[in-house]
Amino acid sequence: MLKKLAASMVAAFALATGAFAAGGAGHVEDVDFSFDGPFGSFDQNQLQRGLQIYTEICAACHGLQYVPLRTLGDDGGPDLPDDQVRAYAEFYEVFDPEIDDFRAATPNDHFPGSNLENAPDLSLMAKARAGFHGPYGLGINQLLKGMGGPEYIVALLNGYTGEEKEEAGAVLYENTAFPGGWIAMAPPLYGDDVEFADGHSTDLHHLSEDVSAFLMWTAEPKLMARKQAGFVGVIFLTILSVMLYLTNKRLWAPVKARYKKK
Ligand code: HEC
Repeated sequence: MLKKLAASMVAAFALATGAFAAGGAGHVEDVDFSFDGPFGSFDQNQLQRGLQIYTEICAACHGLQYVPLRTLGDDGGPDLPDDQVRAYAEFYEVFDPEIDDFRAATPNDHFPGSNLENAPDLSLMAKARAGFHGPYGLGINQLLKGMGGPEYIVALLNGYTGEEKEEAGAVLYENTAFPGGWIAMAPPLYGDDVEFADGHSTDLHHLSEDVSAFLMWTAEPKLMARKQAGFVGVIFLTILSVMLYLTNKRLWAPVKARYKKK
């Protein structure tokens, strides 16, 4: 009786979590990013290439409204020199309520928002999506491989099958990573869409990794500082444990010695 009950409970649990995992999520492969793992850090050159791809291609539709332009000069980020940050900012126009007109942006402004009404802002997209759920929706994969946000974006950019359909007047494109399988974004990258000054590869997979790494940085610009603080914390706690152990030993030494004599 009990055994049966336990078995049916396990089955119900597997069904429930299985249904959750199936929740329409598409196929996402793990990518070995430089910022993975407890000691991972952003690759400055990769972030600069990602910024270039974002600027030349994605910014036509998408915005990054939560990202201040000055952070492009931050350590641990793309780390552009000040004059380049200023020159880059001037490339955008922002509306200034004080002069009631548009003016060139400065490093103190944010990136503009999306240009296209139904294109979502990408500032936090890499942390808003999870690529890994399983097994059975328990999220154990997330512990091992991370949330998979940037991996999801890579899979999305590589996931077009070439099929399209029209629905209610809008064209939808089949995509193996997008939940539901049909996305309203036309394939933004095909490979060789940009040219890099450093001669880095511009095939589709490399381009999508670079732009996804950049979007991970916009979503978590302090990732490196956070990991460093965690590391210092662990060292501190290790030293503290050793000292407490020795203190404990010393405090009890006279008591122990007394009992040994008896
Ligand atoms: C021509 C306009 C256009 C361009 C260019 C474009 N996108 Fe999109 N993007 C869209 C639209 C529209 C959606 C919303 C699609 C939907 O919800 O079906 C979208 C959605 C997305 C999403 C969210 C998918 C989700 O899970 O909701 C991501 C991520 C994304 N785009 C990344 C990019 C990247 C990276 C680039 C540049 C390489 C790019 N896009 C270029 C129009 C564009």
